[in-house]
Amino acid sequence: MYKYLINGQKELKGEVLISGSKNAALPLLAASLLTSGKTMLRNVPELKDIKTMLEVLKFLGVKYLFEKNNLELDTTKLTTHKAPYDLVKTMRASIYVLGPLLARLGKAMVSLPGGCAIGPRPVNLHIDAMEKLGATIKIEDGFIHATTKGLKGTEITFPKISVGATANILMGAVLAKGTTVIKNAALEPEVEELINFLIKMGARIEGKNTDTLTIQGIQKLKPVQYTVIPDRIESGTYLMAGVISESPITIKNMNVDHIRSLIRILEEIGVQLEVSNNSVKIKKISNLKGVYLKTLPYPGFPTDLHPLLTPLLTKIKGISVINETIFENRFAYIPELIRMGAEIEIDDHMVIIKGGSRLNGTKVMASDLRGGAALVLAGLIAKNETIVDRIYHIDRGYENMEDKLQKLGADIKRIKSDQ
Ligand code: UD1
Repeated sequence: MYKYLINGQKELKGEVLISGSKNAALPLLAASLLTSGKTMLRNVPELKDIKTMLEVLKFLGVKYLFEKNNLELDTTKLTTHKAPYDLVKTMRASIYVLGPLLARLGKAMVSLPGGCAIGPRPVNLHIDAMEKLGATIKIEDGFIHATTKGLKGTEITFPKISVGATANILMGAVLAKGTTVIKNAALEPEVEELINFLIKMGARIEGKNTDTLTIQGIQKLKPVQYTVIPDRIESGTYLMAGVISESPITIKNMNVDHIRSLIRILEEIGVQLEVSNNSVKIKKISNLKGVYLKTLPYPGFPTDLHPLLTPLLTKIKGISVINETIFENRFAYIPELIRMGAEIEIDDHMVIIKGGSRLNGTKVMASDLRGGAALVLAGLIAKNETIVDRIYHIDRGYENMEDKLQKLGADIKRIKSDQ
């Protein structure tokens, strides 16, 4: 196991390049199962979660080559329909193979993912919708056992917006017989990306960027070459690194449209930014004021960026409030920030930050991906040394985080946990 050792209070300079999106790439990897042949994906981030999905695909019989962010997937022969517990338990997104396996093989056996540090995270929406699409589903021994004599188009109205369930059903519906209408679909850029990918494979999908998607099922899809979009949460993370350390850095190779909600909040706080299509430069940071915000489905403020905003809000005098409406337990990073000197209370789903604190470095522990990254941001402004342990959580979703921060001038090192 590794930990980060950070000596804070350094000014950052220069530019940082954003990697391909983890959450966009994961469903594309699963969607490659829908066709037989060689799919080529470019700009795939080299991350633990991607490697876990590749392990799942390999178990199913897929052959792959992954070099320098280019991934070739050969899905010609699938040898099983089973996604085992040992892999699925480490990453919930493994549930993405359910729709493609049902569509291609007519059966799927996927371990139930279980809970995780940010809340219970059920999969009922995936299962209910797949049943409507014509699958018979039993839950036995911790596995989802799904079979179908052929998926059939239907109308599905999600009672709650879910990125994962929208993606899974899309992947099932593209090869189903007849027309499927998905209502209350998620609008996240990762869903838009999956739609673009499926359309390139030959799928017929209408309604992109609206909450109603209409899919005309077809018999066969073809393998394609595709480039993954930049990671919007990573771009938000480095933007916050620059703002919190009051540094005039530039975030490049990003899609600005995908983080408009963060840009709006930063401008409301008082940060001046120079924004173009694919880059953001931090211009001026002065007289900042606290904010009230709510996490919401896209295009609202993303739940994944909530923990990354909190360290900045601990600096700004006055009260700020973040109302977390998506994941009820996304608060494990808060006691760690309090140990660094922040004044924060949690009231139901609200994070109430009494700003104006100066953070002090100490030993802290990451307990989930974005919460772990938030502790790194806190370390960048803390006095003295901050040690962030259990950074395997951060490695799940950030490509070369310490290299990128070092290039910007941060004093951050990765060392063995027992050192
Ligand atoms: C994805 C992202 C995650 C992000 C989240 C919300 C990936 C791999 N992960 O997760 O980083 O934080 O979107 O933008 O892309 N829910 C149910 N039943 C279900 C499914 C979800 O009740 O069957 C609930 C969840 O508990 C949560 C809400 O719906 O409260 C939204 O979850 P969802 O959009 O499905 O998140 P994920 O797709 O798991």
